[in-house]
Amino acid sequence: MKIAVPKEVAPGETRVALVPQDVARLVKAGISVAVESGAGHAAGCADSDYTAKGATIETGVEPLLASVDVVVKVFAPIQHPTAGRHEVELLREGSALIAHLSALGGLEDMGLLDRLNGRRISALSLDCVPRITRAQSMDVLSSQATISGYKAVLMAADALPKMLPMLMTAAGTLAAARVFVLGAGVAGLQAIATAKRLGAVVEAFDTRAAVKEQVQSLGARFVELELGHGDAQDKGGYAKALSADQHQKEQELLARHVKDADVVIATALVPGRKAPVLVTEDMVKSMRRGSVVVDLAAERGGNCACTEPGQVTVKHGVTICGTLNLPALLPVHASQMFSRNVSTLVLDLHKDGALRLDRSDEVVAGALITHNGETVHEATRKRHAAPVGAS
Ligand code: NAI
Repeated sequence: MKIAVPKEVAPGETRVALVPQDVARLVKAGISVAVESGAGHAAGCADSDYTAKGATIETGVEPLLASVDVVVKVFAPIQHPTAGRHEVELLREGSALIAHLSALGGLEDMGLLDRLNGRRISALSLDCVPRITRAQSMDVLSSQATISGYKAVLMAADALPKMLPMLMTAAGTLAAARVFVLGAGVAGLQAIATAKRLGAVVEAFDTRAAVKEQVQSLGARFVELELGHGDAQDKGGYAKALSADQHQKEQELLARHVKDADVVIATALVPGRKAPVLVTEDMVKSMRRGSVVVDLAAERGGNCACTEPGQVTVKHGVTICGTLNLPALLPVHASQMFSRNVSTLVLDLHKDGALRLDRSDEVVAGALITHNGETVHEATRKRHAAPVGAS
């Protein structure tokens, strides 16, 4: 089996899907790896680092992709800026593609699915790998959210006209900054841990009461909301969308806490939907001048009504950071973790010199989007019947 690692071409994407360390794991298992020259440069991996671990280097993307069985990528395929063709058109017909296909709405793009099916590509989306024990080390959502949660706090600290820790000095005592984290999933928990390490006083809120203990174990205060009827989480452990009544209660609670925060880190998401708007413009107006909102949900519209995805703006004296793709700002560690996830998946599926796509396997059933010219992933088929955001 031969795998290719092309250079990412999406604007601002600095990560690489496989780092040299993991090339060695694949080569040891009998898999050949070919890497496009320069693919790892932004992530600190030179071509010579790859060859030292057994990969070959290819200078042209077209011969590279046309000659392999499996292509591993970070970002969903897009129009290739120099080849002048869509990346899917460069893949060998009937080959496999492994990438984060939901990145910036890739799976919502009917055109992409048509292209994949048109070339009979077996496309596995890394973000759809089920979050089961066996697949923990294949979980790109968790690995990349860890990076985002950490970076969000550093960005907030950088934009804030204050320090985060409490300091008692001869020049007086400085109060610690107050950080409020909305959504205590993987990114939120890492944001809490990072803000605590920097000395902030941290509060966190999530509709899933199950995270209370995790928040408290990191030294933050859990802001509780009595949601009344119904469970806030589904069988898979994910948040459910709130009813209008629950949303109203949530808004009243959040208004009180957002007002007192120097920093709000917003990470709240509900699978398959637009991000819930939790911080209204009135709440932003109530914040002290110079405060900061970092909206990690910007890719799905944002948790803050004032967020402009991809932009850092100042509204009512508050810096609103809607920067997209935070993992690409820390490409060395983001690539290292992404690569470990991808290589573990490849090794798991590699049988008798090929990628075995057995649809009775839970991981394949969860992640396989297109196969033999058909969209085989049920949730993706349903999403195309009802666009994202529709309830
Ligand atoms: P996510 O990125 O989908 O959502 C982030 C957070 O936002 C979640 O904690 C969610 O409860 C919260 N949220 C949604 N709506 C909200 C609202 N209206 N107000 C406040 N908060 C709201 O979640 P993520 O980080 O991907 O993980 C979700 C859960 O998945 C985890 O807590 C865990 O139960 C499960 N998980 C399991 C793993 C495994 O077993 N391998 C690995 C990672 C996560």
